[in-house]
Amino acid sequence: MTAVVGSGWLALTSPNTVNDITEVWSLPGSRATLDAMRDAGLRLPRNDPRQYDELAGEWWQPDGAFAMLHWLAQARAALVPPAVRPGALLVDLGCGAGLLAPHLAGKGYRHVGVDLTRSALAQAVAHGVTAINGDAAAVPLTDGCADVVAAGELLEHVPDWRAAVAEACRLLRPGGLLVLDTLNDTALSRLVAVRIAERLPAVPRGIHDPRLFVDDRELVAECARHGVDLRVRGVRPGVPGLLRWLFRQARGARTPVGRAPRIVPTRSTAVLYQGRGVRGG
Ligand SMILES: C[S@@+](CC[C@H](N)C(=O)[O-])C[C@H]1O[C@@H](n2cnc3c(N)ncnc32)[C@H](O)[C@@H]1O
Repeated sequence: MTAVVGSGWLALTSPNTVNDITEVWSLPGSRATLDAMRDAGLRLPRNDPRQYDELAGEWWQPDGAFAMLHWLAQARAALVPPAVRPGALLVDLGCGAGLLAPHLAGKGYRHVGVDLTRSALAQAVAHGVTAINGDAAAVPLTDGCADVVAAGELLEHVPDWRAAVAEACRLLRPGGLLVLDTLNDTALSRLVAVRIAERLPAVPRGIHDPRLFVDDRELVAECARHGVDLRVRGVRPGVPGLLRWLFRQARGARTPVGRAPRIVPTRSTAVLYQGRGVRGG
């Protein structure tokens, strides 16, 4: 059963029944036009963290390989209210190069980032993030230390997403807020995020392993087991902005400041979804 809670946020209470499909990423056909950056992803297994080292120069390019992460970071930060106490801590699991940081400016948090990839963390530090080089499934921080835990586009990269969720919930103080976004474990998600997206020039090949995608109902249930009442809603890039962006990409033109596509709520959680939840007392 799915209940609409308001503003498109859903409380999911039964298992997802979407059938699995496998090997959709083994596509025939030539990809000879893909550039060296994308081929770098092919030399490594899917979801190999070393891809982030190969793509280190892309993080802060607004039209680069991680362009959509910029759009998602803005949407994720919009879920985070201003801190209600001095010294409030936001732990950013899988922080990458700290793309969330500019969108948190002025909200009053100390921003601590945890990531496996040193080359990304070095850039996060340059954007004011306190960096911890480590695994989101075993974070060296104390229970209940965080006012907010963010996990943006992380869970679909972690071999054991349940362990990362347990850590996220453990780190939250009672009343603390969990915000996240990830890719759903559905056939549509594998089609859109892997089969279609990885044919686009700006999307790295092999960055996702669709076997790691996260069923939204299972995620909600796992958070509940750890005391966090997670609500989810589908999100996607706004169509006019996305079309303008694709058009500019095709012409090799840069996106003017402030004209990047916006992430907007959508009825279906079947591809990309946000979650936000508060840890109970
Ligand atoms: C798609 S990027 C998202 C980065 C950032 N959250 C953002 O939205 O810009 C995924 C990040 O997760 C990191 N990562 C993957 N597995 C991880 C793990 N087990 N523990 C910590 N970080 C991990 C990668 O190094 C990478 O920086």
